[in-house]
Amino acid sequence: MKGRRFFVKTFGCQMNVNDSEKMAGILVSAGYKKTDNLKEADIVIVNTCSVRAKPDNKAYSFIGELKRLKKEKPELVVAVTGCVPQRDWKFILERYPHVDVILGTFNFYRILDFLESSSKPSVEILDTFLENEGEIIPSIEPLLTNPFVAYVTVQRGCNRFCTYCIVPYVRGRERSVPPENVVDEVKRLAEEDVKEVHLLGQNVDFYNYNGIRLPDLLYMVSQVEGIERVRFTTSHPAGFDISIIKAIKEIPKVCEYVHLPPQSGSNRILERMNRGYTREEYIEKVMMLKEKVPDVALSGDFIVGFPGETAEDFEQTLSLVETCVFDQAFVFEYSPRPLTKAFSFKDDVPKNEKNRRLMELNNLLKKQAEEKNLSLLGSVQEILVEGLSPSNSEKMIGRTRNNKIVIIDRNDSLKGKLANVKIEEITPFYMKGKVIKQLAGVER
Ligand code: SAH
Ligand code: SF4
Ligand code: F3S
Repeated sequence: MKGRRFFVKTFGCQMNVNDSEKMAGILVSAGYKKTDNLKEADIVIVNTCSVRAKPDNKAYSFIGELKRLKKEKPELVVAVTGCVPQRDWKFILERYPHVDVILGTFNFYRILDFLESSSKPSVEILDTFLENEGEIIPSIEPLLTNPFVAYVTVQRGCNRFCTYCIVPYVRGRERSVPPENVVDEVKRLAEEDVKEVHLLGQNVDFYNYNGIRLPDLLYMVSQVEGIERVRFTTSHPAGFDISIIKAIKEIPKVCEYVHLPPQSGSNRILERMNRGYTREEYIEKVMMLKEKVPDVALSGDFIVGFPGETAEDFEQTLSLVETCVFDQAFVFEYSPRPLTKAFSFKDDVPKNEKNRRLMELNNLLKKQAEEKNLSLLGSVQEILVEGLSPSNSEKMIGRTRNNKIVIIDRNDSLKGKLANVKIEEITPFYMKGKVIKQLAGVER
């Protein structure tokens, strides 16, 4: 079936993006071709997310639309993978008969066998509760979205069971990839000219393989020649500690950027969420981080309108934000998810109030982000030049160690290189900079 064209639609988190890149890598190695034009595809893969009702609904409406496409083109093969079918495969099978292949989060890498199987629909969902299931996800060369920046999944699943969260049910138990596999994967990526790696895990602070923890892994990965930058995400406030702060401070290639989602600033709500830390502990960790790594950028996620969240609880979240000061953050309205403990709690914050809290929190976060960016005006920042700006081919785009976007004048010799730039202008979405010096490597 060589030469057939596939289109991949990805919803959800970076791990899902990485899983999609792996599926694409498998298909390209087998002779298939990737297309970004849905109309010309022979195969469509929908890699789904179930974390909130919104992405879940979006996945279903996308799958629904494919029905029409398949009518026009009956040989079209439709595959649905990831977190939605992991839980909902029977529903998909019954309600969407135009879907040919269904795979979950443990076996998505078997996509080729299933696409080529002569029996359709071809479905396999492994039980999320089997210990170690999924451990054996083989090493797969991804088809990178960005040639210089790659995701590397180092930990899958989650054991924390926050009461609102479906991830432990659709991604299974927490398991860490052996460090030697991680290092091998990073070495291979470095050979392909990748300069920056993002180590991914649902709560990567808890990475643990026979006593090898995240700081050890960061050290090992940063030793790989050719790699200039290392990032990691998502940190969990209960696992984030001084050993990780030290790694950020002491390993030059580890970037000063931490995504540490508080979710709420109210102890009562944090407890109902089963987050495993208090507001005071969160603030203390952030203060310790900012003291040891003063130029760090802090990012977070928040849920507003969790069941039982009062105006006072929400005030506590605003006050936590005032105290900690974020560079970037994502705010979500609470969305009840099946299987989770909070599904049985009364979803008692009215929709318009959830929305009001979302806007108020977003306004505060936006103001903080703008002030933080303004403070960088005139400063010199290291950027990794990723390529041409998508909106202007005379410009190039890069990112600072703090993960902020910087636009510079086009200079093709800088592609995939580190450079120091002087920040000359700040806009709400990016900064403009002037290259002062190309760097041979990290000079921190
Ligand atoms: N492992 C990460 C989060 C993964 S889910 C962590 O523990 O922080 C990404 C984000 O989606 C979460 O941080 C949370 O803010 C949001 N989220 C998860 N479940 C949600 C729900 N039921 N309703 C609204 N937001 C939710
Ligand atoms: Fe979900 Fe909590 Fe696990 Fe994050 S730590 S994936 S929010 S259960
Ligand atoms: Fe979504 Fe699954 Fe990631 S539910 S957030 S794609 S782990």
